[in-house]
Amino acid sequence: MRISIINYLACPVCRGDFLLSTHEKTKERVIGGKLKCKKCSKSFYIENGIACFVCLDRKITEDTKKLRRITIKQEIPKTWTKLFSKEEYTALRKEWDWMLSVVEKNKNAVHLDFATGTGRFLRNIVSKTNGEIIALDFSYSTCQELIYFLKKIKKYRRVSVICADAHKMPFKNGVFNSVSSWAGLAEPRMEGVIKEARRVLKRMAYLTASGLHYQKDSRSFLLAKKNYINFVTKKAIIQTLKKANFRNIEHKVFFRGKWNEKESYLPILGDSYSTFAIRAQK
Ligand SMILES: C[S@@+](CC[C@H](N)C(=O)[O-])C[C@H]1O[C@@H](n2cnc3c(N)ncnc32)[C@H](O)[C@@H]1O
Ligand SMILES: [Zn+2]
Repeated sequence: MRISIINYLACPVCRGDFLLSTHEKTKERVIGGKLKCKKCSKSFYIENGIACFVCLDRKITEDTKKLRRITIKQEIPKTWTKLFSKEEYTALRKEWDWMLSVVEKNKNAVHLDFATGTGRFLRNIVSKTNGEIIALDFSYSTCQELIYFLKKIKKYRRVSVICADAHKMPFKNGVFNSVSSWAGLAEPRMEGVIKEARRVLKRMAYLTASGLHYQKDSRSFLLAKKNYINFVTKKAIIQTLKKANFRNIEHKVFFRGKWNEKESYLPILGDSYSTFAIRAQK
């Protein structure tokens, strides 16, 4: 992580400040070290440049090898975009532009992207702001992969990667100028995350996020529900944002169509789906 982000971090258990000790660093980054909470004394580790707030997965090496092949094969030539029709790709560019409108250009701005994955959306943020960027994902191997990938495409300089659960973000209240998550709302149990996102935003600042809606009672709809993916309807996401006290809530559908990829988990082949994004203000 970049040393400069220490002022935004807080203990996910008690929100106390951290004492940072390092055993490996560069001028701008901590590569290896420890974050010890000044209040409850709990310690968290920084390894391979990643500040880690979740228990490490035993299968890291195995997972990473598998992921590396996928990332390089898919993300460098952007293979996945080739599966899109022209119409779908145009809709995606519109969706990204709309979401990127919350990102401020100035170098004092701080942006958080959660459920970053291998950063398809993040690479757009890097080009949009001169400020600090924090990427958060709860899979350690995905975080490692993200760093490898960002270095490869020369977009790592202003990014810090944090391994944490978005339900318990290791940040102080009110530190971010904007928060985003592309396709993050299509993950299970994200209702609690909406509240967390609001907590870490500055006053009047914006959250933007996206996901998929499914036709009511379709196979995809029922499978998503069974797996606690709740934002399958417009009503569900709007109600959740309202309940979390967001205002100026905007919801926009960018693409409607039938899913035509075999062997995908969600949506299921042949089902109607739509892509949506939201913007909402604290
Ligand atoms: C479909 S990807 C999102 C796509 C990604 N935003 C992009 O731009 O390429 C979903 C990611 O969310 C992460 N994730 C799911 N639930 C999470 C949670 N509660 N906290 C943090 N990350 C989470 C997964 O590890 C996965 O990498
Ligand atoms: Zn603490």
